[in-house]
Amino acid sequence: MNVLEFQRRRSRLMAAIGPNGVAIVFGNSEVPRNGDTHYPFRQHSDFFYLTGFNEPDAVLVLAPFHEKGETLIFLNPRDPNIEQWTGYRLGPESAPEVLGVDAAFSIQEIDTEILEFITGREAVHALWNANSKLDQRIPDWLHTLKRKRREAPEDLINLALSLHELRLIKSESEQAQMQQAADISADAMIRAIQRCQPGMFEWQLDAEIQSVFLSRGARSPAYPIIVGSGENACIMHYVENSRQMTERDLVLIDAGCELDHYAADITRTFPVSGKFSDAQRTIYELVLEAQTQAISAASMGNRFRDPHETSRKVLTEGLIELGILNCTLEEALEQNLDRRFLVHGCSHWLGLDVHDVGRTTLNGKPRSLEPGMVLTVEPGIYIPNNEKMNDVEERWRGIGVRIEDDILITSDGNHVLSNKAPKSTDDIEALMNG
Ligand code: GLY
Ligand code: MN
Ligand code: MN
Repeated sequence: MNVLEFQRRRSRLMAAIGPNGVAIVFGNSEVPRNGDTHYPFRQHSDFFYLTGFNEPDAVLVLAPFHEKGETLIFLNPRDPNIEQWTGYRLGPESAPEVLGVDAAFSIQEIDTEILEFITGREAVHALWNANSKLDQRIPDWLHTLKRKRREAPEDLINLALSLHELRLIKSESEQAQMQQAADISADAMIRAIQRCQPGMFEWQLDAEIQSVFLSRGARSPAYPIIVGSGENACIMHYVENSRQMTERDLVLIDAGCELDHYAADITRTFPVSGKFSDAQRTIYELVLEAQTQAISAASMGNRFRDPHETSRKVLTEGLIELGILNCTLEEALEQNLDRRFLVHGCSHWLGLDVHDVGRTTLNGKPRSLEPGMVLTVEPGIYIPNNEKMNDVEERWRGIGVRIEDDILITSDGNHVLSNKAPKSTDDIEALMNG
């Protein structure tokens, strides 16, 4: 993504906060793992969105119309001794040109240098708890100004609403990036489906997925990969991925890569043997029908909740028809009797975060879908083989199915970013047996 796009985002955010505000946005710090090591560094999504800058311990300040520059960044200074251990740093000397900001300072100078950009503003706009090491300094800076009898902002305003509204609508370059992330993730899914054999351990499919991610430049999954076979498919956040799979199992894989900070989020469920049993096929076809109708409901002008409500109705009707739910549709919907098998909602926003930012309601009203929004559509049915399911026929128990795709809303409907991952029973069986 080029520097002009980050400048455009900063300008739009400054227009949103207005000339009397100042925005302070913190990057992430390193997180210790153990001994002398850290977890792989992941930049804060809000900070990345506004800067494209991927080093720890940096702070962006936006002070609209400030005479000394309206966009400035604080970052780690160059230091050959430290850099020999921890790698290259951009440093304040090169930052203005590389990042397209007006000014740059060492992070070590922030307590003094930031003051004049805050002075005289009515409000500080910031994200609470973005980086607890740095963001707790804001009250100190305001206190210092007051002590010096300088004009300190009186209001602290949460930046989340204005910033996250921007992040919700994806630009063309973001859409292209997310398409690439979805393509890599779909190819990874295809490989796992092709390589799956009875007797393998779940972690071997995890390895197939990750090998495609890594070999295509996606250096990390966007979230912990789920490979849940048999009953493990019924555990929403199953990440042990340690069971040996049998030919009687379905296996559910929920895996998406992160590519240059943008996420994909795909789920496919398939038979370890390469052939769906009758009961597995029945549940699978029902979830697929619900997902197909829900994707049709994900279009401009419809509400965020419409895919969920559409899939919920199809799934609930199907469960009643199969005798798994013993009630009427109205009773199920009114008393939430379907929750026992459906468990979760059908959609969330997708972007820099896998559960991306942005409101799903506005002013208490349901939100309409607009071109450039990206959401998942992921209905599922889960029937664990436990005592809570004693009233359910044996043949359905132990089945968990979810099908998840990533949907870009367009001006003429939608585009399924993850459409390269097969999902009809015929396509899956052909892939496994061909
Ligand atoms: N993989 C997380 C989710 O599907 O929401
Ligand atoms: Mn999801
Ligand atoms: Mn998922």
